Amino acid sequence: GPDALARLVDGLMRTVPDFPGPGVQFRDITPLLADADAFAQVVAALADHVYGPVDLVAGMEARGFLLAAPVAVALGAGVVPVRKAGKLPGPVASRSYALEYGSAAVEVQPFTVADGARVLVIDDVLATGGTAAATVELLESCGATVVGLSFLVELQGLGGRALLPGRDVDALLTLP
Ligand code: PRP
Repeated sequence: GPDALARLVDGLMRTVPDFPGPGVQFRDITPLLADADAFAQVVAALADHVYGPVDLVAGMEARGFLLAAPVAVALGAGVVPVRKAGKLPGPVASRSYALEYGSAAVEVQPFTVADGARVLVIDDVLATGGTAAATVELLESCGATVVGLSFLVELQGLGGRALLPGRDVDALLTLP
């Protein structure tokens, strides 16, 4: 059930203080990825959450890729990498978003996103929501319909959900 799954994710995630910089609590999911049974359970749970038909699963660089690809296979969908700026050959569609200091951008190749495609967005962590909100806007600017977003972990205190109003957002584990 959902509680057992949340405990599984919680038990296999490392919280690393001051990485990659002072004051940041890094949530490290590599132990979960390396545990065959836990990884399979997590992928199955992400694929089982019902958003209706899904044509494409979009995963955010880099850790989102590791989850989006197996979820896409489980759903019989294609996968779309949402990359940091400058990584994909053109043509690319781009969306920038504000960081605490400066800004960042996410990019996709719009020719991989069919008009009207129903897209599920997957990432490991929902923190401030900047990455997820920019990803939704980016995909929809390409003509997609984002049917929902699923995360392993939602860090509620960082308020990411507020940047995704009206969206179907699910997390296997919610932390304060
Ligand atoms: C992390 C995480 C999400 C994003 C969440 O990625 O995997 O993509 O930050 O943060 P937000 O909700 O505040 O936008 P990171 O930029 O560390 O990239 P990585 O997966 O390549 O390490």
